Amino acid sequence: MTPKKTTPIREGKSKILYSTDSPEHVIQFFKDDATAFNALKKGTIKNKGFINNKVSSALFQYLENHGVKTHFVHYLSEREMLCKKLEIIPVEVVVRNRAAGSICKRLAIQKGQTFEPALIEFFYKSDALGDPLIAESHIYHFKWATPKELEVMITQSIRVNDLLKSVFSEIGLELIDFKLEFGREANSNVLLADEFTADGCRLWDKKTGEPMDKDRFRQDLGGVDEAYLEVSKRLQNYFEASL
Ligand code: TMP
Ligand code: ASP
Repeated sequence: MTPKKTTPIREGKSKILYSTDSPEHVIQFFKDDATAFNALKKGTIKNKGFINNKVSSALFQYLENHGVKTHFVHYLSEREMLCKKLEIIPVEVVVRNRAAGSICKRLAIQKGQTFEPALIEFFYKSDALGDPLIAESHIYHFKWATPKELEVMITQSIRVNDLLKSVFSEIGLELIDFKLEFGREANSNVLLADEFTADGCRLWDKKTGEPMDKDRFRQDLGGVDEAYLEVSKRLQNYFEASL
């Protein structure tokens, strides 16, 4: 039996998390709301909740099928997915294949510079502090994660990068960077959590070099709704063709 939605646990910038009548499950509800620069910029992207739920469900299912343990259980409805209940580790893992966004400003690095192997950075998940960049030693000192847990997070992030770089490449997109979150189950297993969507990654069209992700919203480039829809259509065609 599918667990039933009960009460909201937490409303974030782009999702609402609900508890269910099963102690082991939660429901992620995807909103159309979009924010950037720690919510200084606010707006909505047409059908984003619907699109992101579909995209994240398809990508998490793909990752599960390729050995990455995630919180994803199954797609429930247009804007809802069923997930395993986790204790979220307050560390965001950012993987960068090329320079874009904050690293360009922070370290005066030319946009587009390639990182081979991919660069991995950690940010402390705190809206109040604006998600600051942190070092590994902060993670252990403040007991946000153990060295063993961090090892799993890094290994899985590299695996996600390898798998999804190939998927996006097949649909004419280059995976520039992305952010992942992890959480622990009651038995302490560390699983990939949150979502993988155009909100939390950068995708550049391989032919035109155009961004096809939330940078269109952040930088007022126009064509935001269209870019989200285009990425989801290409992914849908790819997964249908590979069934
Ligand atoms: P950054 O260049 O702003 O550090 O972002 C790196 C990647 O992480 C980019 O694809 C966007 C994603 N990201 C989030 O999903 N949420 C966030 O709060 C931040 C800061 C970045
Ligand atoms: N998601 C973050 C915010 O709301 C940062 C970003 O994506 O730019 O503000």
